[in-house]
Amino acid sequence: MRIVLGVTGGIAAYKAALLLRLMTESGHQVDVVPTPAALRFVGKATWEALSGRPVRTDTFEAVETVNHVRLGREAELVVVAPATADALARTAAGLAPDLLGNVLLTATCPVLVAPAMHTEMWQHPATVANVATLRSRGITVLDPDSGRLTGRDTGPGRFPEPERIWAEARRLAGLGDDAGTGAAAGPGTPADGPLAGRTVVVTAGGTREALDPVRYLGNRSSGKQGVALAEAALAAGAAVRFIGGSMSVEPPAGAEVTRVESTAELHAAVMDRAAGADALIMAAAVADFRPAEYAEAKIKKSEDGSSPVIRLERTPDILAETVRARAAGEPMPGVIVGFGAETGDAEASVLEYGAAKLARKGCEMLVVNQVGGGRGFGQDDNEVTMLFADGRDPVEVAGSKAEVARAVVGQLGALLGP
Ligand SMILES: Cc1cc2nc3c(=O)[nH]c(=O)nc-3n(C[C@H](O)[C@H](O)[C@H](O)COP(=O)(O)O)c2cc1C
Repeated sequence: MRIVLGVTGGIAAYKAALLLRLMTESGHQVDVVPTPAALRFVGKATWEALSGRPVRTDTFEAVETVNHVRLGREAELVVVAPATADALARTAAGLAPDLLGNVLLTATCPVLVAPAMHTEMWQHPATVANVATLRSRGITVLDPDSGRLTGRDTGPGRFPEPERIWAEARRLAGLGDDAGTGAAAGPGTPADGPLAGRTVVVTAGGTREALDPVRYLGNRSSGKQGVALAEAALAAGAAVRFIGGSMSVEPPAGAEVTRVESTAELHAAVMDRAAGADALIMAAAVADFRPAEYAEAKIKKSEDGSSPVIRLERTPDILAETVRARAAGEPMPGVIVGFGAETGDAEASVLEYGAAKLARKGCEMLVVNQVGGGRGFGQDDNEVTMLFADGRDPVEVAGSKAEVARAVVGQLGALLGP
């Protein structure tokens, strides 16, 4: 795998040499891209000797190879470790004053960032906001460890152990456990992820409403986004109860899976499985209407050539039901997330419909998903806007369904709090 290891100018830069060692010993090709400040801590010679590759830091070096776009485009994984407060701010702002900034703007692969800094810097509102921005874009930002810092002080901000970063990076890149380094999946993997100890219920896929024993009314939901959400929650350390309707993909490994077909079954499963959970993500595409009558025998063509008329009735609004049950004192999750697939029209935009829906449903967060025109159902990419009931600014995210899922789960973690 082609990895770019970005190193920025913190005291922990020397520990990135150990991380580089773990990567190269597993057989990966690693291009180290230090910032100019990083080179004041650990020199180029160390990075070149350990990676066996030329090391560049400036956008204007080796211009003939178009490094400033090539490295990012070709990377299959980018890890920035350590990431300074300054680097987090630049990345959040989309600045590219050096080669690493250009790599981060051109990379489309998974990106993992391991910040390290003094506690005051880590807890500064500017850094907190920058980290939230990066997470909302699908970048995985590890929480630093708590412990001894550069001086005599201790607190959150310590650079995580290289083994933990490498374990998290492997997981992000879809690599298994690394027998080569002997690094077992330890801390930094789900066990101490941001949702460790939480239970998250995720619904996914479409519903099928039977007309007769062979026919149904359904929708085009593939279940891909819901499965990606469940996987992101699992990766963040949550126990996941997954409720899947009709889907074109497999349910997520590692989740407790319940399969359903109709809206009524989904309703019952949600009320049962969501009890006692911390969060509910309703990503299933639930039918709004179902046939009012079910024909016990297959509906036949009539002799006179006429067509049957199907009368529809409303289905229960499961999302609103969970909010209502919670208000009535039932043990429903404290954070309920709805998904709204919307198409705008002449009367209102997609976001206006989304905002109205959020208010109507009474949930904490609504992920508005524009469908139609090649977006949404069945696609591998998605473009959503997250709206929040507590008045925080909407967050937009576009990318693969896995990236969108990581961003949604990141916001979910923020809503759940520590
Ligand atoms: C001795 C020393 C240690 C530093 N350690 C850190 C650190 O751990 N984290 C951090 O965010 N900044 C640290 N800084 C400040 C950064 O080096 C400075 O903000 C710099 O602009 C970062 O540049 P870069 O992000 O381009 O690498 C340190 C500075 C010095 C002089």
